[in-house]
Amino acid sequence: MHVPVLTIDGPSGAGKGTVSRLVAKKLGWNYLDSGSIYRSLAIALQNNPFNLGNVSEIVKVAQAMALEFECGDELIVKLNGEDITSKLGLESTGSIASQIAALPEVRRVLLQKQQDFRQPPGLVADGRDMGTVVFPDAENKVFLTASAAKRAERRYKQLIEKEIDANLAKIKIEIEARDRRDREREAAPLAMAIDAHYIDSSDIGIETVVEEVLNLIR
Ligand code: C5P
Repeated sequence: MHVPVLTIDGPSGAGKGTVSRLVAKKLGWNYLDSGSIYRSLAIALQNNPFNLGNVSEIVKVAQAMALEFECGDELIVKLNGEDITSKLGLESTGSIASQIAALPEVRRVLLQKQQDFRQPPGLVADGRDMGTVVFPDAENKVFLTASAAKRAERRYKQLIEKEIDANLAKIKIEIEARDRRDREREAAPLAMAIDAHYIDSSDIGIETVVEEVLNLIR
């Protein structure tokens, strides 16, 4: 049975997560937050002595990860039975995630775990390489971006709302470093698929972006 996919790729803080969740809810489709898979691996590795050079060890930990996702208003993620939701959003987790995400062997192991989310009636998949590598045959692709300043501001607000201590200038530097790493890596770099629809959310609200995405599908 053919299951339709909508991919939403872009840099961190562009609003992909919020837009994807709202669109998935409106369509009644499943939702894949692929960044949370890389983030979960980062957390799994923090429980072990973590060495970026030890690729075979990282691959072993990736293969052994048992992940459970509960998609309610907020995404709840369990790693080997433990609720890791509160650690997922930390910028330190995102930074480690982007370092291990540059390893092609790691991406290979996580590929199937992501493709398994393609279940009826449809899937909204958010990440960096959803439209280029994981679901290249998706019928609808979006590349969602925003200026680094706006993205840093949004990430800052998210953290403050979750009562996580944050510093705006530091977040902007971290976001730019992570973007650079994601764009410049050789394995599945952050790039717009040639058949993707480009949206810049710097000066438009989330509701407008959601409408634009839903119009694409209609
Ligand atoms: O989207 P999020 O900020 O949660 O992703 C964390 C990191 O995981 C990204 O900076 C990126 O390096 C990596 N990632 C990736 N491919 C994806 C999703 C996330 O490389 N499809």
